[in-house]
Amino acid sequence: MGIEAKDFTLDLDLLAFSGIAFSPEQRASLQTSLIILKEQYKFKTIHFWGKILGITDDYFIIQGRQKDELRDRQFLYSKDCVNWNMLTPANDEAKDSTEVCQGRFTGDPSNDFEVTKYNITNEDTEDENIEEVKSSVREEDRLAATLSKIEQDALIIPRGAYILQPNGDVERNRTFAGLTATESGKLSNYFHFCEPIHLPKKGLIHRSALDKSLHFLDTIDEDIPKGWSVQFERGSGLVQIRSLKWPGMAFFHIPETNRYGSLYCGVGEENKDLAFML
Ligand SMILES: *[C@@H]1O[C@H](CO)[C@@H](O)[C@H](O)[C@H]1NC(C)=O
Ligand SMILES: *[C@@H]1O[C@H](CO)[C@@H](O)[C@H](O)[C@H]1NC(C)=O
Repeated sequence: MGIEAKDFTLDLDLLAFSGIAFSPEQRASLQTSLIILKEQYKFKTIHFWGKILGITDDYFIIQGRQKDELRDRQFLYSKDCVNWNMLTPANDEAKDSTEVCQGRFTGDPSNDFEVTKYNITNEDTEDENIEEVKSSVREEDRLAATLSKIEQDALIIPRGAYILQPNGDVERNRTFAGLTATESGKLSNYFHFCEPIHLPKKGLIHRSALDKSLHFLDTIDEDIPKGWSVQFERGSGLVQIRSLKWPGMAFFHIPETNRYGSLYCGVGEENKDLAFML
């Protein structure tokens, strides 16, 4: 989801539990950047997405979205909150390499990480052969691949916050009034805000059996392993949800209102032990 310019300071405070911290100058620059970039790229909506912590420098991340907020998304990154670069979406090779890439982000987008992949040929036959293949992935491509993986696994929205238009576009529900306090404690009332994996894909016949405009995304209670922690603050006036798979991914919702948002602040590494911890 990210957070938008209008509620920027308030939302940042509600998401402090992500671990994110800023200087007053960075806050001001970010807020200005959100306004400028939205105008410059003609985004329909723009969101501060979070921060990837590097060894010498961090990457601040903004996401711009066009009309279809589910599919038309672009990432921009900056090291100083003033100068922004558009990120080219990662190709499949960069995504594969990122899966096995080790070591922290450095903060230099042109850094190359060496990766070792295993090429298994003639699998299940007597001639099975495992070959080590060394290649490399550029930090900028690894960044793009990592952001898209985090989105896939851990970007969430409350049920009813977005609607599927008859033309297939996914747009904000302008009348969304929030979940009740009881509803907001249940994982089944949150959706992954990315192309569904569990639901049949767009266009297949059984989709019409579902109430399409309501149920077009995967709910997060179907995740295996279950990777979420839900906590109430201020009585039941604020719900905070953390991703256990991507430590640093934080989401909040104020029940009975349309206020919700999320932020990621972390090293960009998945908790691969999650399956064994639970
Ligand atoms: C994997 O092995 C096959 C067969 O030897 C070869 O054609 C292919 O190029 C190899 N892939 C890589 C990434 O080296
Ligand atoms: C839009 O929000 C309203 C108010 O919260 C809700 O009653 C309605 O079901 C939502 N629409 C969709 C399609 O989710």
